[in-house]
Amino acid sequence: MSGALIDGKAFSADVRARVADHVVKLKEQGITPGLAVVLVGEDPASEVYVRNKGIQTREAGMNSYEHKLPADTTQDALMALVAQLNADPAVHGILVQLPLPDHLDSEAVLNAIEPAKDVDGFHILNVGLLATGQKSMVACTPLGCLMMLRDRLGDLSGLNAVIVGRSNIVGKPMAQLLLRDSCTVTIAHSRTRDLGEVCRRADILVAAVGRPRIIPGDWIKPGATVIDVGINRIEEDGKTRLVGDVDFDSAREVAGAITPVPGGVGPMTIACLLANTLTACCRAVGLPEPDGLTA
Ligand code: GUN
Repeated sequence: MSGALIDGKAFSADVRARVADHVVKLKEQGITPGLAVVLVGEDPASEVYVRNKGIQTREAGMNSYEHKLPADTTQDALMALVAQLNADPAVHGILVQLPLPDHLDSEAVLNAIEPAKDVDGFHILNVGLLATGQKSMVACTPLGCLMMLRDRLGDLSGLNAVIVGRSNIVGKPMAQLLLRDSCTVTIAHSRTRDLGEVCRRADILVAAVGRPRIIPGDWIKPGATVIDVGINRIEEDGKTRLVGDVDFDSAREVAGAITPVPGGVGPMTIACLLANTLTACCRAVGLPEPDGLTA
């Protein structure tokens, strides 16, 4: 019997609809949430992401401010733009699209964003607040994964969660969120010994390593919930395909539920960006935060 599909497309549409409903209520009070997105250079994948963010921001009824800067933008010019957005009361969320060109210091830029407007949750203050269980902005991809896990499993307490991947963007914040929900958390990575054995203990398996199909079905505990964050472009049978970090066909035979690639975690990231922008706006104007859209 194959496991259930966790439909990130449908789930993200529901999150976006809930955000849009809340935005309508804010607008009745004369408040429109605003998201500023900064793109430096002409990376085609980043341009697609940024365009989609703008479209979905406007569809949710929010203001979208897009700042496209040339690839040779200096650190000082980028920092000046961030300072300008920090000071702008119409901007409730700021996202600087990564990766930045090599000559720019990403850490310095991310840490210059006003923490209350840091809708990516990458500022060191937000990372520290999350790690100590305090109210923070939470990185969008792990937030989306958490929403899907809570929806699927309800109370996560006591479950064994294994996260494969230790990035600052996904692995580490995912671990903090699952720890906060009282899971027993293991972070595995490329140096982990007997990775298959570690994965087989997982009631919740989050794959975020960026290696195509590295996790086969026989690493999965029967009935486990599998969240595949990987989006890997491969050439197969003469075609370009997007595949996850999990070998979907064999994993689905064993898992209780699994996210597909594409159509799983991916669409949740922008939906959570909109949710974070709404949360940041509500906090900025001193109104209650929407239910179920934060960690
Ligand atoms: N590039 C790819 N994903 C992301 C993301 O979630 N946030 C930012 N800022 N850049 C990205």
